[in-house]
Amino acid sequence: MPPTSDAGPNSNFGMVALVNTEHHTLRIELGDRAYPIHIGSGLLDKDALLSDALPSGPWLVVTNETVAPLYLPTLRKSLNGRLLAECILPDGEQHKTLETLARVYDAMAAARITRDGAVLALGGGVIGDIAGFAASTWNRGISVAQIPTTLLSQVDSSVGGKTAVNHPAGKNLIGAFHQPSVVLADLNTLATLPDRELRAGLAEVIKYGLIADVRFLEWLEAEMPRLLARDVSALAYAVEVSCATKARIVALDERESGPRALLNLGHTFGHAIEAAMGYGQWLHGEAVAAGMVLAAETSRALGWLSQADVDRVRSVLRQAELPTESPRLGADRALELMSLDKKVKAGRIRLVLMRAIGEAVVAADYDEAALRFVLTQEMGG
Ligand code: NAD
Ligand code: GLY
Repeated sequence: MPPTSDAGPNSNFGMVALVNTEHHTLRIELGDRAYPIHIGSGLLDKDALLSDALPSGPWLVVTNETVAPLYLPTLRKSLNGRLLAECILPDGEQHKTLETLARVYDAMAAARITRDGAVLALGGGVIGDIAGFAASTWNRGISVAQIPTTLLSQVDSSVGGKTAVNHPAGKNLIGAFHQPSVVLADLNTLATLPDRELRAGLAEVIKYGLIADVRFLEWLEAEMPRLLARDVSALAYAVEVSCATKARIVALDERESGPRALLNLGHTFGHAIEAAMGYGQWLHGEAVAAGMVLAAETSRALGWLSQADVDRVRSVLRQAELPTESPRLGADRALELMSLDKKVKAGRIRLVLMRAIGEAVVAADYDEAALRFVLTQEMGG
């Protein structure tokens, strides 16, 4: 069983967990764009969770060639004959491009998707981001349901409305904020996820502990073996706490003018690693893991974290079998790539750093020498 609220950090959240016997539902409070996040096992079979949240017009499911044979038949069956056009994309981060996006628009046109239609994004974060962006722009914006099937997408990318495709100049540079109408995180889909992808998702789970919730981090340190063994109740708890933290932060700052940037711990470093190594070589979560180590090392170089804190960050990531060493890009190349980050303001790279474990901050006025020192030490001169 998942721990009760006093055994974990849930009790502190403004989010409401509507407990029922089959699944849990969180609500992300965004006024007239509020929506439910359903978390549980077997949700793909529950068509009402989609039909209650989406308009009645034609629906287009966007998925990829890996996920389609695994989960599209279940979705089709559950929708019981409802007209469902299908767009099956090639798999991989390297396909998160304008060319692939054009294929989604073509499918929308062929299926005559109008403003009373909807997109169902069935897959991991790549599919969620492409399909979400297509929905944000088609007919100036139509509804999207996020149906995440990777751990990473269940704990992060499906929630909060960021959508994007990559540009050769950088990751996620072409995108929009477009909140889904519903998120359906079916934990059963995690059974078929490759081990490496599960571990990549754990990087984003650990991130929530590091930025905002030391008690959750303690829980992760204790329960990592259960998570790696895919114990469903442990996964359910990790997904729920992660989504609750993300929903709380997004409700405070939907468009990332303030605290939402904290969700990018490790990402400015990680995006540089992903871009330098070639999209898809390092998984997003792996790059974020190495990036969180760099953020911890920089925080230590600034005198904010102790060596013991940095060791703890490395240790929990190692427990999750994630990389803690960065590729030797060289400090200059890393800085060049980091300067493309969307958080750069007036030429300064704003970094998410840690004042303490469980207390991240967005820093702009840090000593740049400390950053260069860490990059040189960890990535070469
Ligand atoms: P992904 O979408 O590439 O999925 C990983 C792999 O797992 C793919 O090969 C996919 O086909 C396969 N897969 C998916 N579900 C499966 C299942 N149930 N069983 C077996 N295989 C399955 O990668 P991801 O880690 O889910 O997402 C990474 C992407 O998410 C990146 O592009 C990143 O930029 C983006 N992202 C977006 C946000 C956001 O807020 N929008 C946040 C974090 C990450
Ligand atoms: N993954 C960071 C965000 O959604 O803001």
